Amino acid sequence: MTRFPVTALRSVDLGTPDLGRSEAFYRDVWGLERVATADGVVYLRATGRDHHVVALHRSDRTELKAVTFRVAEATDFDTIARNALQQGATLIAAAASNPAPDGGVIMSLRSPEGCTLRFVHGDVTHEARPSRPELPERLAHVNLNSTDVDRTAAFYEHALGFKLTDRSAAMAFVRCNSDHHAVVIASAKVNGLNHVAFLMPTWEGVMRGSGRMIDAGYPIAWGVGRHGPGDNVFAYFIDPQGIVIEYTAEVLQVDDDYVVRGPEHWVWPPGRTDQWGIAPPKAEHVKAAQLAVGFAA
Ligand SMILES: [Fe+2]
Repeated sequence: MTRFPVTALRSVDLGTPDLGRSEAFYRDVWGLERVATADGVVYLRATGRDHHVVALHRSDRTELKAVTFRVAEATDFDTIARNALQQGATLIAAAASNPAPDGGVIMSLRSPEGCTLRFVHGDVTHEARPSRPELPERLAHVNLNSTDVDRTAAFYEHALGFKLTDRSAAMAFVRCNSDHHAVVIASAKVNGLNHVAFLMPTWEGVMRGSGRMIDAGYPIAWGVGRHGPGDNVFAYFIDPQGIVIEYTAEVLQVDDDYVVRGPEHWVWPPGRTDQWGIAPPKAEHVKAAQLAVGFAA
């Protein structure tokens, strides 16, 4: 079996011009729970063991401030840093004790596209809450826009030790554990955040969460449907600050025997955008939202 130096996608740091509104949304509607506030940053957990899955920062604009991964061993910091610098990243902060509430040891890099990537080891975890179908358990994936998908995918493979799982015409899917993908790289004219996906326990939870969002005035932006690569059920929404977020479930579990397929395989029949044929074509305002959130400088 492949040994992955990065073992999980843990959390995202989001910048918001309206911290109060964003916090209320993620707590009261999206289904997260505040676990800490420190230095003006609000930390929100899901029902799983991760200390937090979202950290909200007050910011002049809506932006992706960081993506945080967990590493297997403390000795992986050096390897990741060396390989990442060779592949065009810059070091923001070498591995050191993390003063934030999630603790452990942390290292920060800037990817060649300008995305801040953070790596933690020995971070604080919680007892998992009892699983509830309608609440997110953890992050499932981040989808990042790239002006050069193959180059960015190669960075995740050669710098961070991910493996390519599938490649469609528009996207590369890379994994760091048995989930079909933890990161998706989407072809775009600008680098930035496409969307963040949260794992629900079952597809029943995707539906129940979607109902809660509709009740709160947030219509489904795209879906419900079942994706091709990864086979996961999805429903997309747009948060109060314009960030595209996804409830997902049933992500395909893979191992070294998985056969990587390319763009010629991942083709939809005319008129379809999901396996079931339920999801309507994506609306223009949703496509625009998936291009509107940049990386923090
Ligand atoms: Fe997604």
